[in-house]
Amino acid sequence: MMRSLSLSTRLTATFTVITAVCFILVGWLLYRAAEQRIYAQDETNLVLSARHLRRFVAELDSIADLKAHQDRMVVSVLGDPSNALRIVDDTGQIIADHNPTGFPVDLQPAVPTGQRILTSMLRTWRDDHGLSIRGVAVTGQLRDGTHVTIAVARSLADREALLRHYRRDMALRLLAGLIAAIVLSHLLVRRALRPLRSMAIDAATIHAQSLHKRLTAGNAPAELHALSGALNDMLDRLEGGFARVWQFTVDLAHDLRTPIGNLRGTNEVALAHPRTPAEYQALLGSNIEECDRVSRTIESVLFLARADNPQFALQRAPLDVGTELERITEYFEGLASEAGVHIKVQGRATVHADRDLFRRAVGNLLSNALRYTPPGETITLLAERSDGAVMIAVENPGEGIPPEHLAQLFDRFYRVDRSRNDSANSTGLGLSIVKSIMELHGGRVSVDSQPHGMTRFTLWFPGD
Ligand SMILES: Nc1ncnc2c1ncn2[C@@H]1O[C@H](COP(=O)(O)OP(=O)(O)OP(=O)(O)O)[C@@H](O)[C@H]1O
Ligand SMILES: [Mg+2]
Repeated sequence: MMRSLSLSTRLTATFTVITAVCFILVGWLLYRAAEQRIYAQDETNLVLSARHLRRFVAELDSIADLKAHQDRMVVSVLGDPSNALRIVDDTGQIIADHNPTGFPVDLQPAVPTGQRILTSMLRTWRDDHGLSIRGVAVTGQLRDGTHVTIAVARSLADREALLRHYRRDMALRLLAGLIAAIVLSHLLVRRALRPLRSMAIDAATIHAQSLHKRLTAGNAPAELHALSGALNDMLDRLEGGFARVWQFTVDLAHDLRTPIGNLRGTNEVALAHPRTPAEYQALLGSNIEECDRVSRTIESVLFLARADNPQFALQRAPLDVGTELERITEYFEGLASEAGVHIKVQGRATVHADRDLFRRAVGNLLSNALRYTPPGETITLLAERSDGAVMIAVENPGEGIPPEHLAQLFDRFYRVDRSRNDSANSTGLGLSIVKSIMELHGGRVSVDSQPHGMTRFTLWFPGD
């Protein structure tokens, strides 16, 4: 795979292209302006000379007079060896000719006597070497009525050479400027990206063990402040996530230590003295209970880990909530009559959910309710549609949950009264599993509890 270009290379390339385009554009405009200025000067001179000569001729009497004053006429084009003057009479005979460089002079078509000479009348032609000549021919009239043709012209060879030099000089200077622009923009870009590099160096030093470290933007530009802010926020979240995983590990170890400690303790005590078969039986029975608790914890932890995986596949199907709640109630019937508690089911609704997970969530809430409902009281399972969502509530009377515990109730391993609930049938994972199941379904779970009144857990399933 081709390595992608670095940011500084890209920026330098962009600057270079922009600079080159600007240089070329400005250079071209300057060149055009210079060219126009040079030619405009020459053109004005040619037109002024032609006008002057025609006026001069008009004041002469005859061809002879003209010949006599030839030198005075030549003076008007002297001083610049590129200029030429030629006067011919109407028979085509040359009367005056001044042409130091000897380029061809065009006599046709001539501007008629009465017509004003303008720059637009100038013509351009070429000599044998392809060099340009610009000039104009005009007709003048002597006092005796004779017509003469006056041609003034200028070789543009020197101008073209000048412009050629100018073009070459300009190209060289533009090239030098461009090289300077590349070097400077490269240096500037490197300088501007320095904070980015230092952020990368900072980021490279952050590991799972040093998640408390943060990136410093220092005096970097505002955009990088936003980036480092966002990355630091991400680190905050990762740090929080890591802390939770760590806490979970600690809690899990702690939770497994108790039953294993119990197992070991009771077995040790039992082995200290000879026991009757009945005593051994009781011991094995309690061993099995502890083992059950350990395997329940492990099973719950595995479930939570699987549910955390984004690839967890839900088997959603439309469920008739009334029927499902009746089923779950039947399942808990034995436990309920043992505790002397009644279970009542109310309302109907349909949810689009995974049947096993639905049963597990409601079952966890019902098993909690059974544990905290005083004998003779009734637990209510309620299904209802509200605002497009379906809510399923499990409500039981009892002591209630003190408000300060409500926020953490759904945390893993959280129990309100550890000493009381640390019995064989409590892992403290039940409600966190309910929460996970609801999140998998895009819903949520909430709790509401009155001291010495009703405790109500509500599952909210989003509407279809
Ligand atoms: N209906 C309820 N009435 C009073 N307290 C409750 C009720 N339901 C839950 N709690 C409190 O919330 C705590 C957490 O419940 P959760 O179901 O997560 O764990 P658990 O019931 O202790 O363990 P497990 O469900 O694994 O057997 C319980 O220990 C209990 O203190
Ligand atoms: Mg529970």
